[in-house]
Amino acid sequence: MDTRPIGMFDSGVGGLTVLKELRKQSPNENIIYLGDTKRFPYGSKSKESIIELTKKGVEFLLSKNVKAIVIACGTATSQALEEVKNKYDIPIIGIIDSTTEYLKRHKKLRKIGVIATNGTIRSKGWQSKIQSNIPDAIISYKACPLLAPMAEEGWTENEVARLTVKEYLKGFEDIDCLILGCTHYPLFKKIIREEIGPKVEIINTGEKLSKELEEILKREQKENREAELGDCEIYLTDTETNFLHVASKLLKEKGIKEKIKKANI
Ligand code: DGL
Repeated sequence: MDTRPIGMFDSGVGGLTVLKELRKQSPNENIIYLGDTKRFPYGSKSKESIIELTKKGVEFLLSKNVKAIVIACGTATSQALEEVKNKYDIPIIGIIDSTTEYLKRHKKLRKIGVIATNGTIRSKGWQSKIQSNIPDAIISYKACPLLAPMAEEGWTENEVARLTVKEYLKGFEDIDCLILGCTHYPLFKKIIREEIGPKVEIINTGEKLSKELEEILKREQKENREAELGDCEIYLTDTETNFLHVASKLLKEKGIKEKIKKANI
């Protein structure tokens, strides 16, 4: 048993979609969330910058004595996960592996769509991981750079969001599932569902990752088995953002404002 918190990291509000799933899966775990709002968006940055920022985020979380780290960001997972995994001696997981494992087991899901940021699509992180694990997969993919900034603004259910999603989903008419390869995108799930239709499985990577993390903690005997619900602290690198509004709507938890602190990194 280990009561230390789990560290989570994203460029902004996106990782909260993962936090929400983790809370459902492992409600007793304490969480420290870091949103690098000062440097958002990550999706348009170079691989070198993403590696540098991910190391900064990981080191901040390590300074808070976390027992495991979740890179709750597709852009950082696809370009910096290997780098930080090799550098630090603590379990660090990203959003790609658990979803790939899920797809491997579900043989009806072979026509796979992926939407993500420019950086993630350019890195081919999803494409090569899926292809090497599932050789008969047919993958279609598209970068959707407008969605993460719209999510930070809270524009996830209005007419602009609908038209943007509609435009980005052109070309995904013949798929079995659609991976939301950026953690901001589950915020658009309602509109995505309406546009893509009822037959396509929409994959929220946070759901798959939370199960993987639970297994790792069990295996390493690091679960928090205390009876009460886990606590959550949120650190932002810049506090003048719309974060609070989006976080309150998504997490539906009281007292979020009091949980937000400034991270001076
Ligand atoms: N939520 C992030 C991702 O999963 C980053 C979006 C961004 O900062 O551009 O890719």
